[in-house]
Amino acid sequence: MKSAPGFAYMSHIREGLPKPAPASVSPRYNFGTGHNDPNLIPVDGLARATEEALKFCGRDLAKYMMGGSALGIESLRKLVASMLYERRGISVVPDQVLITGGSAQGIDLVNQILVSRGDTVIYEQYTYSGAFSKLARAGARCVGAALDEDGVVPESLDRLLQDLKARNVTPRYLYIIPTVQNPTGTVMSLLRRQELLAVTRAHGLPVLEDDCYADVSWVGPLPPALFALDPTQVIYIGSFSKSLAPALRVGYAVAQPDLVSQLLACKNDGGTGSVDQLAVSQYLDGRLDTHLREVSRTLEAKSVAMIEAFERHFGPHAKIRRPAGGIYVWVELPKHIDTRKLVEPAKAAGITFNPGAEWACDPESAKHFMRLCFAMPSPDEIETGVAELAKIYRSHLSQTADDGRAAASHAVST
Ligand SMILES: Cc1ncc(COP(=O)(O)O)c(C=O)c1O
Repeated sequence: MKSAPGFAYMSHIREGLPKPAPASVSPRYNFGTGHNDPNLIPVDGLARATEEALKFCGRDLAKYMMGGSALGIESLRKLVASMLYERRGISVVPDQVLITGGSAQGIDLVNQILVSRGDTVIYEQYTYSGAFSKLARAGARCVGAALDEDGVVPESLDRLLQDLKARNVTPRYLYIIPTVQNPTGTVMSLLRRQELLAVTRAHGLPVLEDDCYADVSWVGPLPPALFALDPTQVIYIGSFSKSLAPALRVGYAVAQPDLVSQLLACKNDGGTGSVDQLAVSQYLDGRLDTHLREVSRTLEAKSVAMIEAFERHFGPHAKIRRPAGGIYVWVELPKHIDTRKLVEPAKAAGITFNPGAEWACDPESAKHFMRLCFAMPSPDEIETGVAELAKIYRSHLSQTADDGRAAASHAVST
């Protein structure tokens, strides 16, 4: 939509902001955004839970934070504390739980308390793209730690930290998604977690553990959270976005009491939406395990549908490691492909996906990867959308001079 002529407000906008954001579009095949499956939203249950809660304490909406703790609604903080104890081995009291506007706000708060302009932060070599823009806004830069199928490689991290030290760079913290890594979908083993914490401890490096996919996984019992292994060295963030509904905007940060107070001092937003918090606590109370089992079962089936669609339509051109949970596949194409070049033709065909370069500290190193979200589309849409994407890929290949040889030498593993 065009702005009205008149005062040139945009000419007053300060330097260094992100590009103006386009209004949202709804592509036919949305493999780009981390939406959930609409059929997994317990609409009736959430409506009943919200109604019950509002009948009980609705008049408190007259007060900021419903007149309660700035940390968030107490029943929700109790639910989070007991859920983290049962599921992640984390032992905290509800006053160590700060309810946030999604885990995204948790990352912003940690940046506020740890990062100044010009600082360096260690990220996993491939990671959540939202974290890049947050760091850029903080005026800092990231350096990537090498990943393998077990997550961050402790020896590489140790070398990286030694190199930085030799250059007088003291990184402010390590941002890590050890459980159902985004985008790779791996889960770090217990031994690796212990080795990793030994390295960060030796270098005095604080850790921010982002566990927002841990509730949506389908591989055996998960190892305990890093926070459970050392609650003094780690700030932990989680979310109900992936396990319940992202539009609710309910996440949480968990830390030592002095850190929680510091995070709270920076969270000057008038409190996370109270109705959202009430809906989550009232709905999930007594239903958590059943709900998470149902969500994980459905998403696992969709992950299989997407992998099989890739096998059918991309054949040996696409390498995919089965994700241990979450809502994404991380697809590797032959090395000479730059998936950024597929974005526009895909968009024209109604398909969105994330080019790998946007999910890497070193964009060029991931240019032949792409990330696709399988949660929202139906199995039929997954099949048709991947088939359409394969046509776009093949047409791109035919325009690329040396495609045949490179593709033939590309091994497959799923
Ligand atoms: C790793 C990771 N962290 C944080 C977020 C932000 O999620 P939310 O703010 O909805 O909890 C996302 C969203 O996709 C994510 O993938």
